[in-house]
Amino acid sequence: MNISRTWAMPHSDTFSVKPIGEFVKKYLANSKISVDPFARNKQWATYTNDLNPETLAEYHLDALEFLEGLAEQKVNADLVIFDPPYSPRQLAECYKQIGRKATMQDTQAKSWSDWKNAIANITDKNSIVLSFGWNTVGMGAKRGFEIAEILMVCHGGQHNDTICMAETRLTKRVPDLWESAPLLAFSHLQENPALEVLSTPPTSG
Ligand SMILES: C[S@@+](CC[C@H](N)C(=O)[O-])C[C@H]1O[C@@H](n2cnc3c(N)ncnc32)[C@H](O)[C@@H]1O
Repeated sequence: MNISRTWAMPHSDTFSVKPIGEFVKKYLANSKISVDPFARNKQWATYTNDLNPETLAEYHLDALEFLEGLAEQKVNADLVIFDPPYSPRQLAECYKQIGRKATMQDTQAKSWSDWKNAIANITDKNSIVLSFGWNTVGMGAKRGFEIAEILMVCHGGQHNDTICMAETRLTKRVPDLWESAPLLAFSHLQENPALEVLSTPPTSG
């Protein structure tokens, strides 16, 4: 794992901080299909989204809805950029800007883990996820990821560092058996009704 530290002035647009922008661009240079669910005005990825309609992102959906839509379209990203609000307070501020009140549910840790689970559904073995924030939780080993690089950017004074992390997925995504092999899925389910990977059988009609 490569760990480094540098200094740069803070900026509300994360990737406008020079070393952070360079970190992102280094991974984008080797990417064919990239996804940025919290893009704000950066049009760097193949698919860009931001809840705020006044930003330059291509889509203006809630990140979860956007990521689930990509999964339905069978998008397989080799790079996902995860630069969400870093705290419940930042999230509430983003929502306020678009006239939406953040609920208790919005600001719970579950929002961040739901986004990560949705990112896992559009990545596969060898995909890279870049995470930005104030900790090194990232996608984590539980979702099959290993840390490849950490860049700590100190902003001085009372500012928190921005921690930039690149993680590589080591595991293959479990195929949706109901789509690829429904008979096999049915027999697995009969043998073990608690099997989670099968999700739910398709409904008729
Ligand atoms: C940290 S900023 C991203 C900055 C961007 N990476 C840049 O370098 O300019 C987080 C962005 O997430 C957006 N956002 C907040 N909550 C969201 C949600 N639930 N779904 C989609 N976008 C959201 C905000 O509007 C904000 O632009």
